[in-house]
Amino acid sequence: MSSHASSSNDKDMVISGADASAQTFDLGSLTPMLHSYASKQEDRWEKQMIAIFGSIQVDGPLPLLPPLSEDESCGQKRKSKSKDTYRSPEGKERKLIKGFQREMKNMVKKAKSDSVIFESFNFVEAIKKLQMVPKRSEATVMQWLDGKPRVAKSSDGVDIICHLPMALKECARKELYQALMEFGHAVNAKPDGGADRNKRNVKSSYVQKEGELAGIVKLVAYWKMHGPKTPSRDYLKSGRQFCLATAVLNKLNHSALRINAAFEALDEKQYSALKTLREKVLLDNPFARMIASNYPLLFEGLAIMWNRQTPLHSDNTDPINGWVALMVLGEFQKGHLWIPCLKLRLSYEPGTIIFLRGHILPHEVEAWEGGQRISMAHFTHQTIWNDYPDIECP
Ligand SMILES: [Fe+2]
Repeated sequence: MSSHASSSNDKDMVISGADASAQTFDLGSLTPMLHSYASKQEDRWEKQMIAIFGSIQVDGPLPLLPPLSEDESCGQKRKSKSKDTYRSPEGKERKLIKGFQREMKNMVKKAKSDSVIFESFNFVEAIKKLQMVPKRSEATVMQWLDGKPRVAKSSDGVDIICHLPMALKECARKELYQALMEFGHAVNAKPDGGADRNKRNVKSSYVQKEGELAGIVKLVAYWKMHGPKTPSRDYLKSGRQFCLATAVLNKLNHSALRINAAFEALDEKQYSALKTLREKVLLDNPFARMIASNYPLLFEGLAIMWNRQTPLHSDNTDPINGWVALMVLGEFQKGHLWIPCLKLRLSYEPGTIIFLRGHILPHEVEAWEGGQRISMAHFTHQTIWNDYPDIECP
């Protein structure tokens, strides 16, 4: 009840001015009419909204939709009014996702149809001996800088790299870049967030420029170092950071789904095994289920790096044959990833996705030209696989 409820003196409303003597309204008799009119308008409005947007279930679990829809936010022009106009937001989202999943799969298919065999690198030997440098060092440098998607194969016919230049369109790149910059500023990303085991996370491996961000944040759903699995420290630093991390991951939904789709097309066996592994982890860990409901990445976690020029290293904590998915964004123009054991230089510019067997293929980020750079590494550590010995990383 409002504190300004009407008193009996308010009941009659008198029009002041020239007509004051002629017209007097009884507000009490008008009230039911007004209520009836408002109710009809409300019903009509609700029906119109449902016709446009579809009904949203509010008494059950709410749909976890990413807040941004790339085609809409980019203002893609539609030729005419299609049935899409009448789809629900969930329907539009499903359609959008199916579209870019198809796009990613086609891109990987195209890359596979343009495979290059590296005779100096034998996959089975590399797995057994952890071969770091090719025996035949006379191989000439190969550069993949022409923007075409390609796959690198070992001499024994195993896919070892999948290079997808400009895999993300400009609108998706812009959205992601903006979300990651806002997040980096909000959490005050810094390079000295703790040195990693290989002492790579040192200040000298970051490019520090006025007005640009330099730092790293690791958002790992179920990190396992020495004890039981937990979300990574960067997730749980504070209540505020947890809110910021979940919000940015919600915005990264589409990019996670792109990575998943490309991975399925690239290596169906490892994709299926990773899917089974993830299902088991989620079944055993309610906290992981909670995180997964907001972020669909199949891999265990994500490292976001601002202006990091990662020196030569192997991803030693990943399975020996495991894939890592790299994505790069930013306001720089030229950048490369260098794989010395193959003498291969890959273009690594905004919107590029590179899958590589990061444990057996040491890799290095070369100096780039231009402004802010953000890279993302999507990975799964061997320790998670160790917990489920019945599932192998094929
Ligand atoms: Fe790496």
